[in-house]
Amino acid sequence: MEDKILKIKETALADIENAKNSKELEDVKNKYLSRQSELNTMKKGLKDIEPALRPKIGALTNEVFKLLESEIDKKHQNFYKSELNEKLQSEKIDVTLDGTFNPFGKVHPLSSTINEIVEIFEHLGFSIIENKYSPEVEVEKYNFDLLNVPKEHPARDVQDTYYCYGADNIVLRSHTSNAQVRQMLNSAPPVKIISPGRVYRNESVSARKNNFFHQVEGLYVDKGVTFAHLKGVLNEFIRQYFGANRPTRFRNSFFPFTEPSAEIDVQCIVCQGKGCSTCSGTGWLEILGSGMVDPNVLKDAGIDPDVYSGFAFGMGVERLAMLKYAIDDIRLFFNNDERFLKQF
Ligand code: DAH
Repeated sequence: MEDKILKIKETALADIENAKNSKELEDVKNKYLSRQSELNTMKKGLKDIEPALRPKIGALTNEVFKLLESEIDKKHQNFYKSELNEKLQSEKIDVTLDGTFNPFGKVHPLSSTINEIVEIFEHLGFSIIENKYSPEVEVEKYNFDLLNVPKEHPARDVQDTYYCYGADNIVLRSHTSNAQVRQMLNSAPPVKIISPGRVYRNESVSARKNNFFHQVEGLYVDKGVTFAHLKGVLNEFIRQYFGANRPTRFRNSFFPFTEPSAEIDVQCIVCQGKGCSTCSGTGWLEILGSGMVDPNVLKDAGIDPDVYSGFAFGMGVERLAMLKYAIDDIRLFFNNDERFLKQF
């Protein structure tokens, strides 16, 4: 019995000695110290041997057991340290190496133009309104009727406006002016808002026209608002957007929802006013429509035109971006050609 234990001790120590890594050491541990190991089986069998021999054999088994345990433990510590070191070496990160290059996305030139316009008006005291007051799929009533656009007005013609199939009073809005109406119906004056968004028109697509584009609508209604306020605000916008030196002009115009009405032209950026195909030979490009809100429009929105007055405007975002960056084809905004988009 004693010999057998000493033999186990010897082979176990040799196995420990020979283990080359913590995995092998673990196997050795299992072999000699697990419950099913020879030593443990012998411990359990102590009760079956001669009582006189029991203490001696018992003590010896324990001693060997403890010895093996501590030897394995010692070796384990060594492995742990050297294996950790190895791992740290092999997984070392050189922070001085170049990183992998992930190209950044960019803000679309139309989005940044809208942001710029919105920011200017916010500094002039206008608040941007929520989308729920300017849906793109709109009832004719808000796109036309309440804007004093008569039933027979050519703008309603299916040539210009997209009607939803099967619902002849639902349109894709043809301008952002629906936002004015909804805003006035929703809140009492003073109202001082801008509302950017997408609009749709049944145009044949060309370098100058697309069948959807973007506008920024503005509305200011309060007591005592005059045409001088309109001019002051829009001139300030143009000065901030184009700089002080770009020639602009107010031109008399007509819109059913404003009286009087004015359009603002900016000198053509392509020909500097000489006349070219971009500006149809006029030297000027229209950027916005505006005017004093028609009393009928105020009345229909529940606002007393004898107490309140206001001005409104709607500007074409693509036009403003094209003029600022000298872009000669509106379709470039919608093609998602990276060569174009990367330039902004
Ligand atoms: N809705 C007009 C258009 O799309 C632009 C416009 C003109 C808007 C005059 C206005 C306005 O608010 O007062 O051509």
